[in-house]
Amino acid sequence: LQKRQPIVAIDGPAGAGKSTVTRRVAHELGLLYLDTGAMYRAVTWLVMNSDLALDDEGAIALLIKDVEIQLTSPNAVDLPTVVHIDDKEVTTAIRTPEVTANVSAIAAQAAVRGKLVQMQQQWGEKGGIIAEGRDIGTNVFPNAELKVFMTASVEERARRRWQDLQNQGRDDIDLQQLAQDIQRRDELDSNRAIAPLKKADDAIELITDDLTIDEVIAKIIELYQQTI
Ligand code: DC
Repeated sequence: LQKRQPIVAIDGPAGAGKSTVTRRVAHELGLLYLDTGAMYRAVTWLVMNSDLALDDEGAIALLIKDVEIQLTSPNAVDLPTVVHIDDKEVTTAIRTPEVTANVSAIAAQAAVRGKLVQMQQQWGEKGGIIAEGRDIGTNVFPNAELKVFMTASVEERARRRWQDLQNQGRDDIDLQQLAQDIQRRDELDSNRAIAPLKKADDAIELITDDLTIDEVIAKIIELYQQTI
């Protein structure tokens, strides 16, 4: 029996810098990057573009029963994962504030989580993967060799998100509103019944308020080299 390749789990609340960091660490270490948030966003987009209500769990379960999600990492390290759901390309459509506002309601549903976690575990079967989300270390890959829980204060995370949106040409976003939205999403994600956002007991907590992205990346690579 061949031992599988290592798995790295990166969890934490919205806007802690997980995506940028995880993508670059994947690139440096030659690991597959798995953006699980993109999967919850894609399903949210699908529901929003159907006739279904966001809380119609039974109908949503049927809608996604045979759904296909494809994640492709572009060659450029700083570009987001290219996302297809049932052959529709939704890479940018899943990043709008409108999808963001609805994603927690969809991510709380048992059928949605069951389906997506099953896909994630299949993709991770052979290891050699770094997965980013909320429940990777606690639920998706509880045997991951390295688990990191990345956090930052609400204010700092709101400021970073605002800057990101600004860079994408969205200058209609209010910083205070963004902080409130982030806090609300944290609360919904942390208090849901199934696989809530939570630091795994064996995860290493990284508070990133006063760290640059490069410092966070260096720290995770150091932890990886110590662990593997
Ligand atoms: O990381 P993100 O902002 O793209 O995630 C979008 C939402 O998806 C987030 O509010 C909670 C949910 N999510 C989840 O419940 N479990 C995961 N493993 C990843 C994301």
